Amino acid sequence: MTQNLAATSRPAAVPAAVPAANASGSRGWWRDAVIYQVYPRSFADSNGDGMGDLPGIRSRLPYLRDLGVDAVWLSPFYASPQADAGYDVADYRAVDPMFGNLLDADALIRDAHELGLRIIVDLVPNHSSDQHEWFQRALREGPGSALRERYHFRPGKGANGELPPNDWESIFGGPAWTRSANPDGTPGDWYLHLFAPEQPDFNWENPAVADEFRSILRFWLDMGVDGFRIDVAHGLVKAEGLPDIGGGDQLKLLGNDVMPFFDQDGVHEIYRTWRRILDEYPGERIGVAEAWTPTVQRTANYVRPDELHQAFNFQYLGTAWDAAALREVIDVSLDSMRPVDAPTTWVLSNHDVTRHATRFANPPGGTQIRTPGDRELGLRRARAATLLMLALPGSAYVYQGEELGLPDVTDLPDEVRQDPSFFRQAGQDGFRDGCRVPIPWSGTEAPYGFGPTVGGPSWLPQPAEWASLSVDVQTGDPTSTLELYRSALAVRREHPALGAGTAVTWLDTPEGVLAFRRDSAEGSFVCTVNTGAEPVRTTAPGSVLLASTEVVVVAGETVLPADSAIWWAV
Ligand code: GLC
Ligand code: CA
Repeated sequence: MTQNLAATSRPAAVPAAVPAANASGSRGWWRDAVIYQVYPRSFADSNGDGMGDLPGIRSRLPYLRDLGVDAVWLSPFYASPQADAGYDVADYRAVDPMFGNLLDADALIRDAHELGLRIIVDLVPNHSSDQHEWFQRALREGPGSALRERYHFRPGKGANGELPPNDWESIFGGPAWTRSANPDGTPGDWYLHLFAPEQPDFNWENPAVADEFRSILRFWLDMGVDGFRIDVAHGLVKAEGLPDIGGGDQLKLLGNDVMPFFDQDGVHEIYRTWRRILDEYPGERIGVAEAWTPTVQRTANYVRPDELHQAFNFQYLGTAWDAAALREVIDVSLDSMRPVDAPTTWVLSNHDVTRHATRFANPPGGTQIRTPGDRELGLRRARAATLLMLALPGSAYVYQGEELGLPDVTDLPDEVRQDPSFFRQAGQDGFRDGCRVPIPWSGTEAPYGFGPTVGGPSWLPQPAEWASLSVDVQTGDPTSTLELYRSALAVRREHPALGAGTAVTWLDTPEGVLAFRRDSAEGSFVCTVNTGAEPVRTTAPGSVLLASTEVVVVAGETVLPADSAIWWAV
């Protein structure tokens, strides 16, 4: 049966136009930016030590410009003992020698700007490394030290203080408290760490902490960065008195329920002060919240007009490959952001979750998947999911390697794993190394151009099949995933109906199919997505701009192949 794609719903009311935010008349580059996440360890290794670095990234900037992204977000490259791959920062104003130095950072930022790319750096304000000077001094100086007030030190419970101060559990598993030793070696107070014991939480009630981070923001803004991705943005403020949670599986509550250490209303005052600093600088510097909250509506609080600019849409990332579920999360996301006038964001992968090519190859089951599943199916769906994501109104995030269609590496031997959550297995994550394997650029032998020497090292081993997924192999092959991304990003830039926006018009579709229209004065656009396993016959809504798989249109009719997405010019 041929199904007509008729409009069934009008776009929801859109607020009156907000005045242009900059001289060029556009409303802010970040409202429709495609932001590419670089994981510095695994992008490009310039000196052959097996670890990616800043000069490596710098040498590959032209690749990112040609790919067609607007900005690059760099995961942390600061001085760090690497207990959590750099999310344990010992010095917020220094580059870890394994990644280079400040001159390399400066050169990277300058080159990026020359190529028209913006740079967003990661900021980790919830906790420092236990090797941070403040924490080391707090330990050395013992109870009573003013430095202890900058973290959460508490005496233990029990006759001899042998029990943790409350019942909070670490996100990585085990208690969220570790007992410190007094300067004389006897057991002392406990300190709070929502993540690994090497990541003590800052006490944001202490003015010295707030002052220090305002200064760190300015340091990097003065270096020329265009914005910050704020790590654990929902965690900085803890409920007064650090109350027990009491019973239940705390990890299951995370992100679903209000927790005394997450999404406390007090965090918003911090972002208001940060926004004022960002606005002091020219060129629209932005803040992006990594905030895991129970609902998209709660996430919207982080992007109110006087707070941050964007927040990751993790509800979207966690949605299964299912038309009805996708339609619902898209509507809820757009509806939640409209009242605060912030762009909706879309993200499928990052350095903390199983790559979406592998998630979609398996039955739905969370974001830490251990089986390769049906690879061909996963890739078909991943390609379609990308076209869907890039057609939606707002800003999108691409994680390095997804443009190559890389699967997660699910069979890494335990001995090579480095993710601290793997070693504290009762925790939430556990298998994050699988999405952190260095990406393949060229050649037939590992490290496939990741490092300069054929046969040279890479900090995690790459699968042999990755030779056929390299940038070189995929370049120029019109059927490759890399060329699909390049084309999609080019069309997205050119088409007047794509990019920023606040609504889509859903079209009537059979079960398992999504179709929506986006309109502009200069032309309309339709995206059709079939998440089902059977092809669906339909009228063609226009002419094909781009498709995730082969499509044929005959006499105005077409078939939407199983697990596909098609972009149409109307
Ligand atoms: C964020 C990071 C993750 C890290 C954690 C602790 O969730 O994305 O990689 O382990 O914060 O800093
Ligand atoms: Ca290196």
